[in-house]
Amino acid sequence: MPSAQVFKATDGAVYTTSTGAPVGEPYAAQRLGTVGPLLLQDFHHIDLLAHFDRERIPERVVHAKGAGAHGYFETTHDLSDITSASIFTKVGQKVRTTARFSTVGGESGSADTARDPRGFALKLRTEEGNLDWVFNNTPVFFIRDPAKFPHFIHTQKRDPQTHLKDADMFWDYLSQNPESAHQIMILFSDRGTPDGYHNMHGYSGHTYKLVKDDGSWVYTQIHLIADGGFKTLDDAQAGQLAGSNPDYGIQSLFETIEAGKYPSWTAYVQTMTPEQAESFRYNVLDLTKVWPHKDYPMRPFGKFVLNENAQNYFAEIEQAAFSPSHTIPYIEPSADPVLQSRLFSYPDTHRHRLGVNYSHIPVNAPIVPVANFQRDGPMTIVSQGARPNYQSSITPLTFKKNKGAINGAVRDFEREAKHETWIGGAFWDLSEITELDFEQPRALYQKVMNDVDRAHLVSNIAGHLGGAKSAEVKARTLSYFASVDQSLSDRIAQAINAPTAKPLPVKSAAEAIRFRANVGAAVKQ
Ligand code: HEM
Repeated sequence: MPSAQVFKATDGAVYTTSTGAPVGEPYAAQRLGTVGPLLLQDFHHIDLLAHFDRERIPERVVHAKGAGAHGYFETTHDLSDITSASIFTKVGQKVRTTARFSTVGGESGSADTARDPRGFALKLRTEEGNLDWVFNNTPVFFIRDPAKFPHFIHTQKRDPQTHLKDADMFWDYLSQNPESAHQIMILFSDRGTPDGYHNMHGYSGHTYKLVKDDGSWVYTQIHLIADGGFKTLDDAQAGQLAGSNPDYGIQSLFETIEAGKYPSWTAYVQTMTPEQAESFRYNVLDLTKVWPHKDYPMRPFGKFVLNENAQNYFAEIEQAAFSPSHTIPYIEPSADPVLQSRLFSYPDTHRHRLGVNYSHIPVNAPIVPVANFQRDGPMTIVSQGARPNYQSSITPLTFKKNKGAINGAVRDFEREAKHETWIGGAFWDLSEITELDFEQPRALYQKVMNDVDRAHLVSNIAGHLGGAKSAEVKARTLSYFASVDQSLSDRIAQAINAPTAKPLPVKSAAEAIRFRANVGAAVKQ
């Protein structure tokens, strides 16, 4: 061990090895004599290098670049008429919350202002365990069949040979999977380049279920609406910032909180009964669709505020592990197949990225005690002491029975059977592209956007599609946009100097609705 001199940091901490032994100075290395070769016995030096060699953990396969902070979620309105989840039935209750925002396709060093959806993940630490909301900043998504997810993501990432992003594979995939049109219209509007992470809304996108003690439930969509509004950049501003300050989003979130201007959001819920779902124009499990606000009004129930920056980014944000399957009694997933697949995928990737005991890491640990029969494994922190590691007759674990929730013992499945059967039939309806898929993107283009929005959309799409080499991919993509609106497609065609295209041949809306009604009726028999 080098000299006994003590090296102190400005906060008074004494410099040590990882085992706590004081070391005279950080560059100390034991040598043979004063200038001789290094010695293998030098634990400090090997400890230093060996730890450095292992500093990196895998970055997230998607959503690798992100920023986060801490704060709270406060219940502002009682939801006890639709759920027995205790957090939403006590007005004024606040729970500590951690948020992580992210881009999707880029690596962890990529630009924060890239055209991409943004992830919007929250961990609410409730008295009944952690409730994670793993949302995006768009109310819809590109797919409704989870088998497409790896294909779709690969086309947004790098080509296997050139290791470059590739406009051909991007549009080749999308134009063959037109259920993506609604999300693409949002992505190529200025909403695709939000002005920082704290100036955007968050949406569950998926349909979830809120359940009551009596076993009754409603379908829900959750919206987190930024109190300061959704602020966007145009393509030129976003491009300029990508070069001059790729960490614009991280920096503006950190500095806004540091300046005491705490970003806040109002939480709203839309609800739909199972009976309403059966006559809804769209499939309730289809996350490429929104629920019209006039038919399914937005009901406020909470406030979410970020008021505390992390002290250590890696420990508190990078190691945060969110999953839609981290839920609490009375808040349940729907049968949406994409959501069902996500319930598997997130804990699976956490075990890969952080290890089987990822829930022991302080940022992920619940505030309530954990009691179960999981034991040991790498990096065990909470081993549950001397408690038996099996269900013992001498000191058994007790179980709380929640009548309504799936994680309780009792539930009136018979009551639901009819609707669940109908849901089974609804999967047919998710597979095919029909005219129904273009109604909402068309309304977005024709009724919600103004002339400036439309001009930006055309130039943003043309800027990207113009980079594709294949005439076939361009033509198919123009048909895809013609299915949304012929004039939109024609304007893009003109901008990229390509021939105009006709809409894709698809089943009419009336036929699609009739088909669903027939399948629904058949499976209910
Ligand atoms: C991150 C898979 C769809 C929101 C991730 C990660 C995976 C994944 C593997 C990395 C997680 C980590 O390493 O911590 C999938 C699959 C999907 C899907 C398989 C569909 C089949 C969606 C949808 C949304 C979403 C529809 C939003 C509605 C997010 C967010 C993150 C994320 C916010 C980042 C969480 C964080 O900040 O740690 N996803 N995803 N994903 N996903 Fe998805």
